[in-house]
Amino acid sequence: MLDKQSPVPMYAQIEDYLKNQILQGGFVIGVAIPSERELTDTFGVSRMTVRQSITNLVNEGLLYREKGRGTYVATPKIEQPLSLTSFTEDMLSRGMKPSNKLVSFEKMIPEIDIAQELQLAKGEEVFIVKRIRYADDKPMAIERSYLPVKLVPDLELNNIEGSLYSFIEKDKRLIISHASQRMEAVLVKKEDAEFLQISMPSAVLMIERISYLTNDVPIEIVRSTYRADRYKFISEIRR
Ligand code: GLP
Repeated sequence: MLDKQSPVPMYAQIEDYLKNQILQGGFVIGVAIPSERELTDTFGVSRMTVRQSITNLVNEGLLYREKGRGTYVATPKIEQPLSLTSFTEDMLSRGMKPSNKLVSFEKMIPEIDIAQELQLAKGEEVFIVKRIRYADDKPMAIERSYLPVKLVPDLELNNIEGSLYSFIEKDKRLIISHASQRMEAVLVKKEDAEFLQISMPSAVLMIERISYLTNDVPIEIVRSTYRADRYKFISEIRR
């Protein structure tokens, strides 16, 4: 199966073979792929070479290792279009069950950067809502939302157990119209690794979104940490 004359290194050829098996369903999600030893025998290469191919696919998120058990085919990442939708809407549209775990809910005068971005006057308060977001009971993201108290003064615990956007739009009849969003890759913080059930060090996607009402008044700043092994963000672009 391998072309020993090819300038493509052996590990890359094995990687391609494994990748095709995964993408074409030859290897099944959640099921172990052949062991390193079996692959070594099949391809007639060293164990180090096989390990290199597998490590690359683990890093890409196509496979995951379970200590002492083997290497398994990972669930494909969620492909999330960059759009102004809520977590609840996103998950429901995929046929997944959204749920939340509230970590904290506070009312306070925010730090200066948050106050500026929310265009608050001195001394004006925000609600800070910190939630772990689950899809089909698996942790996907942690979100810290900052909302001006003056816009949603009656925000209560039971509103944030469900959908925050639904509370803002249906209960408060405010129209979320546009947002600006920044995204970057970072290494997960210890506290977040525990919430997201991932090991340290792991890469995660940090997203900050500032959402505005139709009159350009900021309604929410959210700082989200998404599991990079469960999410990829996609956008349609045109020239
Ligand atoms: C997305 C956005 C957040 C927003 C949340 C609302 O995750 N990034 O800014 O707070 O949706 O979701 P829900 O309405 O499900 O609470």
